[in-house]
Amino acid sequence: MRLIARTEIQISPVAMGCWPIVGITSINVTKQQSLETLRAALDRGINFFDTAYCYGYEGESERMIGRVVADKRDQIVIASKGGIHWQDRQQVKDGRPETIKRECEESLQRLGTDFIDLHYLHAPDPQVPVTESAGAFQELLDAGKIRSVGVSNFTLEQLQEFSTVLLPNVYQPHYNMLQREIETDRLPWCLEKDVSVMVYWPLMKGLLAGKLKRDHQFDPRDGRQKYPMFQGEEWEKNQDFVDELREIAAETGHSVAQVVINWTLQRPGITAALCGAKRPEQIIDNAQTMSWELTNEQITRIDDAIRDRGPIVSKAAV
Ligand SMILES: NC(=O)c1ccc[n+]([C@@H]2O[C@H](COP(=O)([O-])OP(=O)(O)OC[C@H]3O[C@@H](n4cnc5c(N)ncnc54)[C@H](OP(=O)(O)O)[C@@H]3O)[C@@H](O)[C@H]2O)c1
Repeated sequence: MRLIARTEIQISPVAMGCWPIVGITSINVTKQQSLETLRAALDRGINFFDTAYCYGYEGESERMIGRVVADKRDQIVIASKGGIHWQDRQQVKDGRPETIKRECEESLQRLGTDFIDLHYLHAPDPQVPVTESAGAFQELLDAGKIRSVGVSNFTLEQLQEFSTVLLPNVYQPHYNMLQREIETDRLPWCLEKDVSVMVYWPLMKGLLAGKLKRDHQFDPRDGRQKYPMFQGEEWEKNQDFVDELREIAAETGHSVAQVVINWTLQRPGITAALCGAKRPEQIIDNAQTMSWELTNEQITRIDDAIRDRGPIVSKAAV
């Protein structure tokens, strides 16, 4: 277990990412399977669930978590986010203080709880200074509705600005073996300020999980195809890279996904990997990462393979 910075909240370093279970960009997901996936995460020692107000058009992700944890609230750490909602099936950013507070109340109701352990501003709203949004988070803290504060999809400047009002406990950027921009500025800043970093897309939306074959035909409804890393030459290069990971995984006797999550969790300054899953067997696999570690020699080989591959074209989710 690890701690959320400057709190006594203990979390499993492998977290359950609760976006795929709503099935907006992940296909062939049923509610029954999603509930089973959440239960499997808990059964395998994952106590940290990452969701958001906008996960599901009607907050389905928060509602499902509420169902699963109803009689286990003290065993689970819930992270949610406000500041993005759906309008005509498009995501809209709204970081105004009154919106942040109203959405938090709705999230509490959907989750069936009196408090959220970690609550994030999902993304900065270009129309609202982040210091104004920060004021709303301070009020939620003071009212005991949230226990700690996070920000997501922020630049270094936005982190610094938000911190003039409230130093967040957590920063949530995207980060994985091939998308490591935060290492140059935000990661060192977080280390210096004692801000935990919880990363999304550790498996690069499944590409680094090693199960998608080179000749995989994406279903037209699968939201991943719009990203360059799943297309043409980039896809081929990524598959070459994953082939190297497959070799290391075979040696360790663990899956490629576990190798990738393991590497992520051994990076200095990374507190947790938010691993999305849409099937129980996926989160069971990911949870097993917590039972072993890569050797230094394996990490060096992975780092060499990453250097040979080179960084890829990268853009945040929102
Ligand atoms: N703050 C933000 O703006 C933001 C943005 C994005 C995500 N997030 C958070 O971060 C979490 C992670 O992001 P993500 O879910 O988009 O991507 P991810 O964790 O990189 O990849 C998840 C996908 O990988 C595949 N997968 C997972 N475990 C696997 C395994 N063991 N074996 C084989 N395949 C496996 C599944 O896809 P298939 O089965 O379909 O191949 C799954 O849907 C989200 O769930 C959410 O909580 C936050």
